[in-house]
Amino acid sequence: MLRTPEPELMEGLEQAQAYASADFSAGDQALIERVAALFPEGLGDRLVDLGCGPGNISFRLADRYGAAEVVGLDGARAMLDLAQRQLQQRPELQGRVRFRLDCLPLRGGSERFTAVLSNSLLHHLHDPQVLWSAVALLGEPGACVYIKDLRRPPSADAAVALQQRYLVDAPAVLQHDYIASLHAAFTPEEVQQQLEASGLADQLQVAPADDRYLEVWGRLF
Ligand SMILES: C[S@@+](CC[C@H](N)C(=O)[O-])C[C@H]1O[C@@H](n2cnc3c(N)ncnc32)[C@H](O)[C@@H]1O
Repeated sequence: MLRTPEPELMEGLEQAQAYASADFSAGDQALIERVAALFPEGLGDRLVDLGCGPGNISFRLADRYGAAEVVGLDGARAMLDLAQRQLQQRPELQGRVRFRLDCLPLRGGSERFTAVLSNSLLHHLHDPQVLWSAVALLGEPGACVYIKDLRRPPSADAAVALQQRYLVDAPAVLQHDYIASLHAAFTPEEVQQQLEASGLADQLQVAPADDRYLEVWGRLF
């Protein structure tokens, strides 16, 4: 199946609210456990979550890595408003977690981080190189990198089968977005080519995960 890109930013209020109120907790916690297993020595003290949306992963990172600062970055104000609202309800995290409105491609001069993470951003990007450039720009030497996303199924029927298996009871807007996301996702082979083009192929590796994801991980030189 050929890739069909979807809009990059999730700027619609209804779309952002539907996403924020969906229960992704099992998958989000599995991501945190996976990161902990891949990097048992920890992630360092400055973590950035690219395309953080309402902050689902950012908050879990802050809970897991209690000494680290966490920056969630997203280009959609509607999403960051929801993240900010969550942060107000977690006063113990204020000062250690912050959200930054910024859009990939990033300009130079950014702060550097000991870990660069992202969940479900890559498939939104019309030019995936903006993610790999951001990883190289934001990660300091030795930084841990972990990127997870959907992978594109072989056919439209396979996409519908995944939606029926995993999102059959979700609100209509989420079901629609999920199918669109599967069509917009990359394959592991395409991501490998992206890593080679970006010069990161000797630092990061890509592999399929479960029946619908791919993950990219490694350490920057
Ligand atoms: C599917 S959501 C994932 C949210 C979050 N990472 C999570 O796991 O719950 C994708 C997010 O990426 C953001 N995004 C898409 N393209 C972007 C870009 N070029 N720069 C910054 N954020 C972007 C969208 O606004 C949206 O909030």
